[in-house]
Amino acid sequence: MPSSSKKGRVLSGMRPTGKLHLGNYVGALRNWVALQDQYDCFFFIADWHALTTDYADTSSVKQNSLEVMIDYLAAGLDPERSTMFIQSHVLQHAELHLLFSMITPLGWLERVPSYKEQRENLKDKDLGTYGFLGYPLLQSADILIYQADFVPVGEDQVPHVELTREVARRFNQFYPRKLHAGDRDPQRGMVFPEPKPLLTPSPKLPGTDGRKMSKSYNNTILLSEPEASLRQKLKTMVTDPARIRRTDPGNPDVCPVGDLHKIFSTAETMAKVNEGCRTAGIGCIECKQWASDSLWRVLGPMQERRQKYEANPKLAWDILEEGSQKARSVAEATMVEARDAANLSHEYEAPVQSVVKS
Ligand code: TRP
Ligand code: SF4
Repeated sequence: MPSSSKKGRVLSGMRPTGKLHLGNYVGALRNWVALQDQYDCFFFIADWHALTTDYADTSSVKQNSLEVMIDYLAAGLDPERSTMFIQSHVLQHAELHLLFSMITPLGWLERVPSYKEQRENLKDKDLGTYGFLGYPLLQSADILIYQADFVPVGEDQVPHVELTREVARRFNQFYPRKLHAGDRDPQRGMVFPEPKPLLTPSPKLPGTDGRKMSKSYNNTILLSEPEASLRQKLKTMVTDPARIRRTDPGNPDVCPVGDLHKIFSTAETMAKVNEGCRTAGIGCIECKQWASDSLWRVLGPMQERRQKYEANPKLAWDILEEGSQKARSVAEATMVEARDAANLSHEYEAPVQSVVKS
């Protein structure tokens, strides 16, 4: 545990799936942005994790990583306060993953709920690979190599953080931390602290068809959605099905547009929607214009922030590289301890002399 004077450390990441949408923002990014003042934050792009399912075609992984980085910056992750990096540029993750693979029983990985689910959901891909089974173990390495205290994630990722805690315990048991003269932290008996999930409160964010917003449903509103296209998408968004005619009263609690208002609109607008919808005092067209206004109040400033990176993407890449360099030095410091604990330190040690009596 960090001493009370130090900020706790937060780490989280996303697979580079391409341009991020409002669902990613509400479900993760928005919370990450808010954590930056309170914690020592590390946010990364899990490009190796993308390969666990997309190994057969890696042609877009790098471009997607850059897109995600630009979305991170646009959303308000701030390189002055957070370390942003790309997983595959910090080779230490791979080394720690390998050490963990030595001590992790196969049963622990086979039991992770996402393993079976994903294999069934993604039937078109052969996920009978070693890398796919090891997905959550690589995630454990991502987390533990920064000795993170907190991992902001959604509900679905909690089992992965639980596995991470078990792996940390097992490593610490097999390989206790070695003490050396001049140790800065002699109290810390373990190499790895056990991280806790920071559950992201995620209100349900519907896509334009009313189902959960998701890239695979083709119902997203991107963080980079131009204003005209945002307004167009809202115009055709599904509404309370009971409200067929303008004169039919509706119910914002069963309307996807109502859900958007709840997340993005002010209390004042929300009150107008509630009143107007239930009494048929407003039409859906007007209601959707208000929703567009509320969304644009969030997306507009982001798109302003992203302009300079769109104009010169190398700026974003350079920030990612600088962050990766910083991440490497933190990760390497952990690996020095981890190797040492597992008797794999790179330091010379004189052979132990056995005393032979003549
Ligand atoms: N598995 C996470 C996801 O799909 C991404 C991820 C990889 C991650 N490594 C991580 C999240 C470490 C938090 C911490 O969303
Ligand atoms: Fe939905 Fe608004 Fe129409 Fe009510 S008025 S049904 S909340 S779009």
